[in-house]
Amino acid sequence: MNLPIRPRRNRQSSSIRGLVRETQLRPEDLIYPLFLHEEEQNDAIESMPGCHRWSLDGLVEEVGRAKEVGVRSVVLFPKIEEALKSPRGEECFSPDGLVPRAIIAIKQAHPEVAVITDVALDPYNSDGHDGIVEKGEDGELRILNDKTVEILCRQAVCHAEAGADIVSPSDMMDGRVGAIRSSLDEASHEAVSILSYTAKYASAYYGPFRGALDSAPKAGDKKTYQMDPANAREALREAELDVAEGADMIMVKPAGPYLDILTRLRDRIDLPLAAYQVSGEYLMIKSAAKDGWIDEEKVVLESLTAIKRAGADMILTYFAKDVAKRLG
Ligand code: PBG
Repeated sequence: MNLPIRPRRNRQSSSIRGLVRETQLRPEDLIYPLFLHEEEQNDAIESMPGCHRWSLDGLVEEVGRAKEVGVRSVVLFPKIEEALKSPRGEECFSPDGLVPRAIIAIKQAHPEVAVITDVALDPYNSDGHDGIVEKGEDGELRILNDKTVEILCRQAVCHAEAGADIVSPSDMMDGRVGAIRSSLDEASHEAVSILSYTAKYASAYYGPFRGALDSAPKAGDKKTYQMDPANAREALREAELDVAEGADMIMVKPAGPYLDILTRLRDRIDLPLAAYQVSGEYLMIKSAAKDGWIDEEKVVLESLTAIKRAGADMILTYFAKDVAKRLG
């Protein structure tokens, strides 16, 4: 064949493929989500094989193991005892709460690790929603936006006081980024960043996570605050608001099924962009690999590379420690 242009020339050896590779996944791109509870022992999480609810000591050790393989950022998700839950979730801003104590313990042992905290009411709220629930006379549940934002601000300041580097509102209330920014600044925490869950979809992929924390809504669903999976332009609108309100970084969640949203936001918004490979994405890979149907190591690497290629600068993934070990 008379073919002057042959794309295969750039694929002919591992070294040449290395030269032309467009996307590099690095351990420092990864944020490791960690679950914790008020117990002495570490419990394996049934709905998320390979993940644990850590005791405070176990948590600090796991952060150390992650750090050794190059993962320098973690995000914390607490399982709160039923007795501490309430309709307004006040436990979320208790300075003696589980999360502030965990932040202090991690920072003491590993001061260079960036500690990110989740800002939302669902682990603390007796209704299992991210905001305060009111039952209307018609029996319909309403999530009270502005009252919720007041509590989220107190939660964010509480995390900042304990030493969090980044607070990450995952609640999807309107106006929370701006309100949290002002509250942090008023409390002299202008150095604390906000990673906003900008486009968080009302997704069935969160199922295993809610099992891990026992945080599923007691009634209703999250569709009046989390986004409709059918919408893409709306993500841009949310992102523009987050930029205006002072977010430092934005996020798309879930990641794998929403690569188009990542690309759109990458093209139109200049802030650093995060993607969350959520519990359902994790579990699907784990379950398929368990019986040898797919090769876990290869699929994990491919899924994370695809998320980066689509536009993410950083990725929250339960595979963070495992995959970093292999990248190093
Ligand atoms: C709640 C929150 C959820 C996740 C992170 N923060 C669940 C939800 O919105 O119901 C899900 C993460 C995952 O599935 O891995 N604020």
